[in-house]
Amino acid sequence: MKSWMLLIGLLTLTVSGMTQAAGGPAIELEDAQNNLRDQDSLQRGAVLFSNYCMACHSVKYMRYNRIARDLGWSDEQVLQNMTFNQARAVDHVMTRMQAGVSTEILGTEPPDLSLMARLKGPDYIYTFLRAYQLDENGNWDNSVLKGTSMPNVLESFQRHSTPEDYAQAARDITNFLEYVGEPAKLERYDLGWKVILFLLVLLLLTYLLKREYWRDIKH
Ligand code: HEC
Repeated sequence: MKSWMLLIGLLTLTVSGMTQAAGGPAIELEDAQNNLRDQDSLQRGAVLFSNYCMACHSVKYMRYNRIARDLGWSDEQVLQNMTFNQARAVDHVMTRMQAGVSTEILGTEPPDLSLMARLKGPDYIYTFLRAYQLDENGNWDNSVLKGTSMPNVLESFQRHSTPEDYAQAARDITNFLEYVGEPAKLERYDLGWKVILFLLVLLLLTYLLKREYWRDIKH
């Protein structure tokens, strides 16, 4: 009995040690406070993502027409806003970087971001985007992902905006990436209300029916 408990204890320790060793962020994550129901934020996030991230990153499981439908744009609008009319509505959202170029310049291939928000969570992305700092040699480093090969791509944006505006931009991009990670979430929210409404109507009808059935019966 005792040795069992010891074994379980050891296993728990190993597992928690492993999760910590598996590259947990070096600093406390900030709460992204993004809101998937905020369509304006999602639209801004999509445009920012196109302008600042698609030079290197893809979200290859998404198509432009799906984004259009979910974010309240027409096909023409999504292509105008995200591709300067350089793609078709049925195309997947691919990076503008040619294959191999990034490895040459940055030493690594930027990951596809389709599932990044599910993998690491929105708070991680939000904090990561706000964590670039100049080190003692005057080079940019990221306190969430130290020594990262991703340059501080939002530097000029940050320099030209107020801290609040920059926080909002990071939140909008995070929001967009969370949506991309699980597009059906938006539909589920929508469906949830309809289901509840349906159940309420059903409840009312059942109640009326019950009254009808019992009307002539003394009880
Ligand atoms: C110049 C190319 C480039 C641009 C532009 C760029 N990234 Fe990256 N990004 C990278 C590279 C390279 C990596 C891999 C970094 C590493 O492993 O050190 C990366 C990694 C990431 C990661 C994963 C971090 C992790 O923990 O593994 C996220 C999230 C990310 N980028 C988000 C963004 C967002 C959002 C934008 C737009 C605001 C953006 N990137 C723009 C090159 C880029």
